[in-house]
Amino acid sequence: MAKILILYSTTDGHTREICQRLKQAIEGQGHQVTLRSIDDKPPVELEQFDKIVIGASIRYGRHTKRVYDFIEKNEQFLESKPNAFFSVNVVARKPGKDAPGTNPYLQRFLSQIQWHPKKLAVFAGKIDYRKYRFWDRQMIRIIMWMTKGPTDPKGVFEFTDWEQVESFGHQIGEM
Ligand SMILES: Cc1cc2nc3c(=O)[nH]c(=O)nc-3n(C[C@H](O)[C@H](O)[C@H](O)COP(=O)(O)O)c2cc1C
Repeated sequence: MAKILILYSTTDGHTREICQRLKQAIEGQGHQVTLRSIDDKPPVELEQFDKIVIGASIRYGRHTKRVYDFIEKNEQFLESKPNAFFSVNVVARKPGKDAPGTNPYLQRFLSQIQWHPKKLAVFAGKIDYRKYRFWDRQMIRIIMWMTKGPTDPKGVFEFTDWEQVESFGHQIGEM
């Protein structure tokens, strides 16, 4: 049985939901999983875990700076353990941008950090227009309109492939 940490960065909670599904899948394989936010105080002590997974969502083209900072600070430790990274964004709903090798955000992110995650995934996220502040809602609607996505300002659209999430969970359990 391995002790696995899943550390996440989320704004609207969807990455946390994905982490909860990963936790279920990994615990189903007999491992022990701890979920923590990258913003938790005090910061999590990495030394107690056998494997580390980091997941973060995209907002206006970027993962939050806190994810970059965390990775930079803990790069050596991350490299010393089985580890994985996943990104959550809505561009990943598009065929041809839905894999680690083809998702532009994940590719750019990897080119900006020194860490080389041993496993990677990209998951399509969720749009919940009801939750967003006025300007965020307008901006996302414009982006969605430009990329032929849904624009109903009262709509909730979940693009996540939960089987893909579970399958990634099984890969983490086995790595
Ligand atoms: C203000 C805002 C900006 C976003 N910008 C992008 C973006 O640039 N590219 C993209 O693919 N998805 C973008 N998204 C979609 C999010 O990545 C998606 O909603 C994801 O599920 C959010 O996860 P979270 O709830 O864990 O933060 C944006 C969402 C919001 C609300």
